[in-house]
Amino acid sequence: MASPSWRARPPLSTVNSTPLLPLSKAEREWQRQKNTEGAHNPAIDAIMEMTGLEEVKAQVLRIKAKIDTTQRQGASLKDERFNVVLRGNPGTGKTTVARHYAKFLASVGIVPGDSFIEMTGSRLAHDGVRDIKEQIEEMRDEGGGAIFVDEAYQLTEGHNFCGGPVLDFLLGEMEKSAGEIVFIFAGYSKQMEKFFEHNPGLSSRVPYSLQFKDYTDLELLYMFGKLILKKYNGQMKVEGGMFGLYMRIAIRR
Ligand SMILES: Nc1ncnc2c1ncn2[C@@H]1O[C@H](COP(=O)(O)OP(=O)(O)OP(=O)(O)O)[C@@H](O)[C@H]1O
Ligand SMILES: [Mg+2]
Repeated sequence: MASPSWRARPPLSTVNSTPLLPLSKAEREWQRQKNTEGAHNPAIDAIMEMTGLEEVKAQVLRIKAKIDTTQRQGASLKDERFNVVLRGNPGTGKTTVARHYAKFLASVGIVPGDSFIEMTGSRLAHDGVRDIKEQIEEMRDEGGGAIFVDEAYQLTEGHNFCGGPVLDFLLGEMEKSAGEIVFIFAGYSKQMEKFFEHNPGLSSRVPYSLQFKDYTDLELLYMFGKLILKKYNGQMKVEGGMFGLYMRIAIRR
């Protein structure tokens, strides 16, 4: 069944013009800051160019506003933490946003470098404290950056015996790494909720949370449409149009 939101939009019968969703509130606000305040940040541009994710975009703008205000007041951000937890289902854009967020923090001087190390909770637990200690030291030597822990809740899952000590080590590192390394945790909302509940030291060290909602059918259609446009250079015609039956079946598979 087509949802009313599809019907409300003009159907595109070909993919020769780039499909565009109307700008969201956060996207409009970013546009306003660029137009009237001379704001400039390619990492935020990249987040704003992603389809949907309105809550994520709004939260990123709030973080930027906090940094801007503190910097304007001449106050120090040295001891401020910008660690963040990304909650959402697989494929909702968490890793992509994590990379942009790390670049954003580097671009505004919160961390001195934009090195990015990505690992999973179970990998960390398996490799043990010594391994992550070495990686963090290496990152410090390279000038700082972001440590991204995907499926972070795996650290404290029953079968990962070494996960506890690794998490304790990370908590200690988070204490002393402000201004040098930012920690980004990601995973399913429910599991991350439990992970934070069972490890009280985390909440105070991870002050920000980004919620990744599942994409609506319309957002999936736009993303799919854009992908087809890019891949086939605008030469591919879709039977039934961009909002037609075949496209709607494809995004549901
Ligand atoms: N909002 C979006 N706009 C455009 N492309 C997107 C968006 N979200 C995700 N993608 C694309 O979908 C793919 C999966 O995204 P990504 O790896 O960031 O998701 P994830 O939440 O980290 O998934 P997983 O839980 O499987 O690790 C990437 O190729 C990314 O570019
Ligand atoms: Mg990912």
